[in-house]
Amino acid sequence: MIASLPHGCFIAGIGAYVPSRVLTNAELEKLVDTSDDWITSRTGIKERRMAADDEFTSDLAAKAATAALADAGIAAAEVDLIIVATITPDMPFPATACLVQQKIGATRAAAFDLEAACTGFIYALEVARQFIHSGTYQTVLIIGAEKLSSIIDWEDRNTCVLFGDGAGAAVLRRCPVGRGVRAVRLGSDGTKADILSMPGGGSRCPATEQSVKSRAHYLRMEGKEVFKSAVGAMCTAAREVMAIAQVEMSGIRCVIPHQANRRIIDAVGERLGVAPDQVFVNLHKYGNTSAASVAVALQEAVSSGRVQRGDLVLIVAFGAGLTWGAAVLEW
Ligand code: UT7
Repeated sequence: MIASLPHGCFIAGIGAYVPSRVLTNAELEKLVDTSDDWITSRTGIKERRMAADDEFTSDLAAKAATAALADAGIAAAEVDLIIVATITPDMPFPATACLVQQKIGATRAAAFDLEAACTGFIYALEVARQFIHSGTYQTVLIIGAEKLSSIIDWEDRNTCVLFGDGAGAAVLRRCPVGRGVRAVRLGSDGTKADILSMPGGGSRCPATEQSVKSRAHYLRMEGKEVFKSAVGAMCTAAREVMAIAQVEMSGIRCVIPHQANRRIIDAVGERLGVAPDQVFVNLHKYGNTSAASVAVALQEAVSSGRVQRGDLVLIVAFGAGLTWGAAVLEW
């Protein structure tokens, strides 16, 4: 199937940016009825980053994008397309990708946003791959960026301890078929849309005094249901993408899962037969950064030497929608 496509694509550069402000579990203990012990044992998270009041998703995205372009050695003017995956755009429209285009000076690029929640980066990867495979574009910049602190209910201990702000970006370019991004598998299940959502701010529940009073503009989650769905969907996506890529788990150098909860990562790893030293985890530092999570983790895995050129990497994610996805990459 892959061999019949005219072009392959690979990640030519990767970058990440997290805001400097650290929010610790100890600080959260003063905000809501929680404890460092509960957060650490139930999630693995110790701290997360918070964007400044005057720092928006497009700012985080632009910084990660600039780092990715520098890593690839590519000028912004060479970018054909920018895709920003986010659930926290600067505003409903125009697209955050257009704001990033202006900030980084990618004058030739088309730009749009894509929304697949925590799976957004893998959805963006697949869209970029298809544009490159078809020959439409040669250089695509994909970014997962979130200012989740802007939609968190700071009075809800069930959710406010889990999330953080950040951005990760990758530059995708043409390469010979069979190299680079080997396979991508995406999925979704809209029957479970209600278990993780932000009900307010769209056409169903526009902003009104009542919608604000009922806290409709904050993220809501049925944690246990999401947990169960996450483990099953991530395992299925990982198995399917490895079958398409014709690789076994023993051939994967590093598994980079969505960083939502240490217990989800451990359960997925156990079911897939992943050795503990094969899995990359950084959620203790950043919490769940949704669309940015896998990209930030991939950047850290590469910069710390856990992933070297030629290694096979499995990335796998899960999020609201429900959505899920996985990819096998040759780094
Ligand atoms: O990115 C994709 C989307 N998100 C996820 O993947 C997250 C998926 N879900 C989870 O990670 C877990 O379900 C949570 C971490 C959210 C919750 O863990 P849990 O083991 O499922 O706990 P629970 O919701 O069953 O709550 C257990 C107890 C409850 O108290 P009661 O009802 O047993 O008295 C909660 O009220 O823990 C309580 N609780 C807390 N206690 C202290 C919930 N949040 C907190 C908290 N601090 N922050």
